[in-house]
Amino acid sequence: MEREKLFHPTLSDIQVYADKEMAAQAAANEIIKAVQENPKIAITYATGDTMIPVYEALQRASQQGVVDFSNTTAFHLDEYYPYAPTKEFSFVKFLKDRVFNPLSIKPDNIHTLNGLASNGDIEAERYDDLLRKKIVGITLLGIGPGGHIGFNERNTSFTSRTHLAQLSIQTVYRDKIERNQDTPDMALTQGIETILESKRLVMVAYGTTKGDYLHEALDLEVTETCPASALRLHSNKVSMFIDKDAKLQIELNRSKEAV
Ligand code: GLP
Repeated sequence: MEREKLFHPTLSDIQVYADKEMAAQAAANEIIKAVQENPKIAITYATGDTMIPVYEALQRASQQGVVDFSNTTAFHLDEYYPYAPTKEFSFVKFLKDRVFNPLSIKPDNIHTLNGLASNGDIEAERYDDLLRKKIVGITLLGIGPGGHIGFNERNTSFTSRTHLAQLSIQTVYRDKIERNQDTPDMALTQGIETILESKRLVMVAYGTTKGDYLHEALDLEVTETCPASALRLHSNKVSMFIDKDAKLQIELNRSKEAV
């Protein structure tokens, strides 16, 4: 597959592909390879539009018998709160439909955040305890408004664990206005420290808006103001799969700052 790299002083694995399908396929290939090497690997899955082609590629590989996910363990990054797992925009529903069921992951190996738990703080603690007991081999990440990862919004502590989070105005605007969702403005999310404990971090992003988020995360200060900038503290375990549009946008921002 055609690819180039985006230069970064500390992140040496930012792979750039001609379009989103190719970037998604390349990210999926990383996951497939990891499962082939360790059939019992624990994976934290992300949700969002970005992940749809990645999960389609995993489904194809699974159907073709190239890889067997049945003995893997599944976690996920986040879920709206309070929100039922049967509702249209539930992240648990998204993953059941696109990952857990099609990849035949055993129900006992699937660990989901309960968006209907009566106490969100206790639910977050329960989930974090599960994660502390497991080594997560790969965490998939997208990037959202304000450089959020999971639902860790701007100014979330880099030492945060799984918690109940208040969504930012930007995220609520995206969800309610741009995406016409009926979702609440709070969510359960793995914390930044929790996410960074994963052995590998695989971020996927396409398009110019994501290019702007990435520029802030990659090229400006490493600061809690930009949650995704925390990835630079663990540069040796980060791989990014982006498309040409995101790369161009990053380079455009870089060129403006160089003037
Ligand atoms: C969502 C999720 C993130 C996701 C990001 C990007 O709100 N909390 O886990 O990675 O925003 O979503 P999308 O790919 O739909 O743009």
